[in-house]
Amino acid sequence: MLRLQELFPHPIIQGPMAGGASTPALVAAVSNAGGLGSLACGMLSPESMLEKAWEIRQACSLPFAMNLFVQKTPSPSAQEIQQACELLQPIWSQLGMSDLPVPTKWCEDFDAQFEALLNVSPAVASFTFGILNQAQIQQLHAAGIVVIGTATHLAEAQAWQELGADAVCLSGVEAGGHRGTFIGQQEAINFTTLELLAQAASVLRSPIIAAGNIVTGEDVVVALSAGAQAVQMGTAFLVTHESGIHPAYKLKLLTTTSDMTRQTRAITGRYARGLDNQFMQLMATVADQVPAYPVQNALTAAIRAAAGKSNNTELMSMWCGQGIARARPMGATELMHNLVSHLTMHMA
Ligand SMILES: Cc1cc2nc3c(=O)[nH]c(=O)nc-3n(C[C@H](O)[C@H](O)[C@H](O)COP(=O)(O)O)c2cc1C
Repeated sequence: MLRLQELFPHPIIQGPMAGGASTPALVAAVSNAGGLGSLACGMLSPESMLEKAWEIRQACSLPFAMNLFVQKTPSPSAQEIQQACELLQPIWSQLGMSDLPVPTKWCEDFDAQFEALLNVSPAVASFTFGILNQAQIQQLHAAGIVVIGTATHLAEAQAWQELGADAVCLSGVEAGGHRGTFIGQQEAINFTTLELLAQAASVLRSPIIAAGNIVTGEDVVVALSAGAQAVQMGTAFLVTHESGIHPAYKLKLLTTTSDMTRQTRAITGRYARGLDNQFMQLMATVADQVPAYPVQNALTAAIRAAAGKSNNTELMSMWCGQGIARARPMGATELMHNLVSHLTMHMA
């Protein structure tokens, strides 16, 4: 069985965060501090994956991870697109625009991204939204890449284990960003991180990584004591200085005093947790009518970009986890230092 500690000394993984948060600077800072930084590549072109991996390697010679969404490129009908645009048009008009533009591309081609991943050959590759096939996992292992699969319930964790993944990341319902669910209905799978750990600890042979609502050193200790070999933290790193999110989004996250997050499928077509805002509220009644990810995600991209230009946080997507009120702004190195100091004191 893989011991993650042989790859990186401290049991802390900075979660991959698509949409700009996990910059090469953030990934390098976390790996340099003895954790595992992860570059989110789900929305990156193969060229951009190579470029960013190169930037990481300029700043860090230690292991880091790259993360992909396992997905097929969809081909929605013209009618589906028209219906989806009609649902979004009022919001687009609210921004003072005429017709919502239809993107020419719904997502990056997974096979091309996978090829780029093999080219870079990072120490670790993690996957979400789906599961690989035998040939793909063999290619990764042949390249010496450690594979982490994301699971939101036990059947998914077992599927990754059967496939031969080296570790499984159990993602609780409290986690920020998209649900990784690929077996069953996303809205029906609502296990918390600690519930997942309790279910999996005695059943899974693979090393377990716990994700969801782990923000402080105390949280890390609880997850490790419940059977995790490492933790994956997103929200805590989202507000670090190196995180590349829009400044208005970061400010909003940092001024939140209570738990104002919820899950919605309305913005991207896949359930995701973020700060409640007008975008979520306006779309609430039609959330079950929007096309599945990545079509809705591509269609709302123009709205989110326009909202970003005008610093309008009400029409952005502000993904974050339930632990947001406990996250503090600081450099990623300082956050790592704080977490490791706490661990050293409490896990001796
Ligand atoms: C803004 C944001 C974007 C995310 N993007 C990804 C992603 O691209 N791939 C992935 O596997 N997980 C993604 N996640 C999940 C994180 O990697 C991590 O597992 C999760 O944030 C842990 O829960 P926490 O937010 O409570 O710390 C994202 C999370 C956030 C907050």
